[in-house]
Amino acid sequence: MQTVNDATSLAAAIEAAQSTGKKIAFVPTMGALHAGHLSLISAARNHADFVVVSIFVNPLQFGVGEDFEKYPRTLDADIESLESVGANLLFAPTVDVMYPDGQPAPVTKFSGEIGTRYEGAARPGHFDGMLTVVARLFDLVKPDFAIFGAKDAQQLFLIRRMAKTDYPQLQIVSAPIVREPSGLALSSRNRYLDAASHQVAEQLSAAIRAGHATAQKPSIALESARAVMSQVPEAKLDYIALVDADTFETIPDSFKGRALMLIAAVVGTTRLIDNIEITF
Ligand code: PAF
Repeated sequence: MQTVNDATSLAAAIEAAQSTGKKIAFVPTMGALHAGHLSLISAARNHADFVVVSIFVNPLQFGVGEDFEKYPRTLDADIESLESVGANLLFAPTVDVMYPDGQPAPVTKFSGEIGTRYEGAARPGHFDGMLTVVARLFDLVKPDFAIFGAKDAQQLFLIRRMAKTDYPQLQIVSAPIVREPSGLALSSRNRYLDAASHQVAEQLSAAIRAGHATAQKPSIALESARAVMSQVPEAKLDYIALVDADTFETIPDSFKGRALMLIAAVVGTTRLIDNIEITF
């Protein structure tokens, strides 16, 4: 696997691949790779014959007091993992490469009203910063396919919406959530959890599974999920919500169709999110 750090070398490597007729599948990451990321790379391989992965911890999507400084950076281990799953090219830029106009970088993409709900309410500006870096990465990599995990459901919704208008040739692919045997969704932030917090964190997936198991009506599903979380006061529940999977709008109790049950809680100092699809 080749590693490049700047835009010129990236463009040269991509052009070389494209000149042999290869399609490009792109997996943007912030590193600290786990089996969930590696599943995105497998999905990428199923769509195209040249897989580009980026590792960039994007300062623009972290708020004041969030974990930007302490976010795990494990480049050597990440490179080993990427080689083991056959990624073709790693793009690991510096902040200057991503934001050549200097810091603080200007936000160029906006997530709108939906970007202020749920994760956006807890992390103001997060989604604008996320969309800005994803757009910059799309502009640099020019992929045919881009693969994102379903765990970050609101992120995925907003990226799909941006791509529809701004990158109409690009196909956004979502890959299913990868879970530990305990049910806990894999996340780079799970490494912040000690054994006791880990047990508490497992209840997030238990809660949404309970919601899924009692899906006669949205209100009943929500009640079941909330009942599980009420047993673990150590988890500071932020929200459990049901949204229309296609529009991300909150659903009424009469809703019929595909919904997502979203959950977010803080365990210790770690913010965790999860979701499950429920058809009513
Ligand atoms: O999901 C992530 O890891 C990040 O939000 C992304 C999409 C790589 C943008 O920084």
